[in-house]
Amino acid sequence: MRVRVGVLTVSDRASQGVYEDRSGPAVAAFVRERWPEAEVVPRLVPDEVEAIREAVLELLGMGCRLVLTTGGTGPAPRDVTPEALLPLLEKPLPGFGEAMRLASLRETPLAILSRQVAGVRGEALIVSLPGSPKAIRTCLEAVSEAIPVALRLLEPGSSCEKDP
Ligand code: MTE
Repeated sequence: MRVRVGVLTVSDRASQGVYEDRSGPAVAAFVRERWPEAEVVPRLVPDEVEAIREAVLELLGMGCRLVLTTGGTGPAPRDVTPEALLPLLEKPLPGFGEAMRLASLRETPLAILSRQVAGVRGEALIVSLPGSPKAIRTCLEAVSEAIPVALRLLEPGSSCEKDP
């Protein structure tokens, strides 16, 4: 997969330097391992709707075909990643969130608290992931097969292969 991939960490504390960001690097490591030809563009913002939207739009403007966000998907007052992303999604792809929650629920009943969303904007795919590095791997494992297929389908003139 020879594409540019935006990796956006959404975290108040990591963006203030209270602790080191481990989520973005975990996403980037998975991307590089799974798709060695991908180019990762990292970004880090606080849990603010406007900052999240601006960063996603900047990454798309740089030509990222895939934007993976991490963090801010829980129910706490500062968790606003889904609220920031939903208005940007021209076509929501609810299956991504469903598959990630299904996979995560096998590991912890707390996965019911996750509100990950995903969808299409132009020729790009945007997927939100939870913040914990372990959860990131579980969620990416659940959706990574579909990602290159989705990116191919987003190219102009493309359509799904149908069984005869
Ligand atoms: N998914 C997996 N696989 N493992 C986890 O530990 N934690 C849950 C959920 N999904 C978890 C998980 C919890 S406690 C929350 S609040 C949500 O992810 C949202 O995480 P975030 O706010 O860091 O995005």
